[in-house]
Amino acid sequence: MPVKPVDLRGSKILITGPTGQVARPVVEHYAKIADVHALARFRNAEDLQAMASLGATPVKADLAEPDTVAAIDDDFDYVLNFAVVKTGDFDYDLAANAEGVGYLMNRCRRAKAFLHFSSTAVYQYEGQAPRREDAPLGDNHRAMFPTYSISKIAAESVCRFVARSQAIPTTIARLSVPYGDNGGWMYYHMLMMQQGIPIDIHPDGPNFYNLLHVDDYIDKIPCLLAAATTGVTTTNFGGSEKTSIEQWCAYIAELTGFEPLFNKTTSAFGSLHIDTGRMHELIGPTRVDWRDGIKRQLQALAPEVLRQR
Ligand SMILES: NC(=O)c1ccc[n+]([C@@H]2O[C@H](COP(=O)([O-])OP(=O)(O)OC[C@H]3O[C@@H](n4cnc5c(N)ncnc54)[C@H](OP(=O)(O)O)[C@@H]3O)[C@@H](O)[C@H]2O)c1
Repeated sequence: MPVKPVDLRGSKILITGPTGQVARPVVEHYAKIADVHALARFRNAEDLQAMASLGATPVKADLAEPDTVAAIDDDFDYVLNFAVVKTGDFDYDLAANAEGVGYLMNRCRRAKAFLHFSSTAVYQYEGQAPRREDAPLGDNHRAMFPTYSISKIAAESVCRFVARSQAIPTTIARLSVPYGDNGGWMYYHMLMMQQGIPIDIHPDGPNFYNLLHVDDYIDKIPCLLAAATTGVTTTNFGGSEKTSIEQWCAYIAELTGFEPLFNKTTSAFGSLHIDTGRMHELIGPTRVDWRDGIKRQLQALAPEVLRQR
């Protein structure tokens, strides 16, 4: 039986990483019904303004700087931690991504639930096997983002330690491939197809992933919060239906007429789809068909590339 979603209306919510591709639509959605505070470094003043115009209260802090985190409010009902940094500098990225979760949870230990967004990039490459939550971890994304997988694994451990030691109900959601009308991995593929740039894929195809549409992740956040436990609930979080890079590029070709050129290389990430068993048990299936999601994305971001608008 899936959990009963928490009611976020009127609650005080902290969303970190609010200017990023994944969290921005979440801020936009929940700022309409709740008291949303948006935490980032805000090096770009326009981002700060953008958050305010969405109806969120900007909170300037750097998760790698504990003093700045100690200065934020400590009475949030719920925390959604999307912040991530990928500078390639291990010291900074581990401080911000891993230690940062710890500073944040310590500060927000009175929260009713803490939701930490991790990534399926924490899993070791294992060919076509769907990854279950207890599958071996590994440095999956090293080829493109040297610090990413290691710091996301470290972040999960810090998150579990603080949750258990401070008794903070917590969920760790390992995101597959989030996307929506503001972008996503497949949008870069479309641009590469348009420009005749080869797309790296692993030779051991098809390269499966679980595209997760923004409508679905916005919808499931209250369920993920409801699933939080002080022992920490860890779950995969992706679209219920798997699809592959090869399939979505073929579909983009159908919509646009741009043909993909694939460069088969073992340095590409490789298939990384999820076992959806625990996710379905906790929060139920997702709804958006990946074809509809991709079509909608192109209609929103680049309608001129569609053959039939
Ligand atoms: N995008 C994907 O395909 C994907 C896939 C799987 C999992 N995820 C996970 O989803 C989450 C969001 O990803 P994203 O792609 O939306 O990230 P993103 O576009 O790179 O955005 C990162 C956000 O984090 C903030 N940030 C970076 N360093 C910070 C620091 N030191 N202190 C405070 N805030 C900081 C940034 O704002 P400032 O620069 O202003 O601080 C920005 O708002 C991440 O946890 C990521 O691991 C993403």
